[in-house]
Amino acid sequence: MVLLKGVDKGGFVWYTNYESRKGHELSENPHAALLFYWDGLNRQVRVEGSVQKVSEEESEQYFHSRPRGSQIGAIVSKQSTVVPGRHVLHQQYKELEEKYSKEGLIPKPKHWGGYRLQPNRFEFWQGQTSRLHDRLEYFPQEIDGKRVWKIVRLAP
Ligand SMILES: Cc1cc2nc3c(=O)[nH]c(=O)nc-3n(C[C@H](O)[C@H](O)[C@H](O)COP(=O)(O)O)c2cc1C
Repeated sequence: MVLLKGVDKGGFVWYTNYESRKGHELSENPHAALLFYWDGLNRQVRVEGSVQKVSEEESEQYFHSRPRGSQIGAIVSKQSTVVPGRHVLHQQYKELEEKYSKEGLIPKPKHWGGYRLQPNRFEFWQGQTSRLHDRLEYFPQEIDGKRVWKIVRLAP
């Protein structure tokens, strides 16, 4: 689970550590599916597409908009690697907190930043009591040189 930080014309954006497990997986295979699920509404939206890193500037801007504690946490955490114990993280956090105790910019680690998924398939799923659930698939098609979203109904 990650925080969906933004949606714009370019796609869906989230931030993480590029050297995390998912970071390595995305560098091998830059395609992903995002899943949004609302239990109470019996509803799910699945978005598939290709993934690219956002620009350094965009990552810098977001990194520095976060609370200073979160910025330090991002430096401390070598995400997805084995840690001998919580004390190690706390110790490193304390050291960096002291180092950056004065006002001033905390440098964003090179390996921390955003990804943007450019969608090429959406599936809207709405549960029905009959179990004949609705599944509407949207995918792009070229028609007369224009890219339009084609919609089909899939069997549940
Ligand atoms: C509610 C929630 C929000 C999270 N948001 C993020 C996030 O925005 N970015 C992130 O890197 N990890 C986030 N995490 C942690 C990830 O789920 C995951 O543990 C971490 O990214 C390491 O994943 P990996 O080892 O598969 O790469 C969040 C976890 C939860 C429960």
